[in-house]
Amino acid sequence: MTDSGTWHRAASLGELREGEPYGVEISGHHVALYRVGQEFYATGNICTHAEALLSDGMLDGCEIECPLHMGRFDIRTGEALTSPVEIDIPVYPVRVVDDRLEVCLPA
Ligand code: FES
Repeated sequence: MTDSGTWHRAASLGELREGEPYGVEISGHHVALYRVGQEFYATGNICTHAEALLSDGMLDGCEIECPLHMGRFDIRTGEALTSPVEIDIPVYPVRVVDDRLEVCLPA
């Protein structure tokens, strides 16, 4: 538990492959997980434009491209980068514990 959320097990590290976004649902939150080199990131998994799953999209460096209309977000900040997306996605803190990735989600 943190001031702003609760830590949850999200995936084993072996499930997270470079360039392959990974979608999970945790306590009602749709979360996309990403591995970029030795770094891990977590964002909301629902595109803010028309609700496509970002985990079905293409990861290019630290940008996720939505599979439906190709809008892009920065997975480090959640910032909406390119049309047609205008509303940012949430980003969540992550940590590695043993062989798993945990994500901190709002209660
Ligand atoms: S649903 Fe993602 S850009 Fe349209």
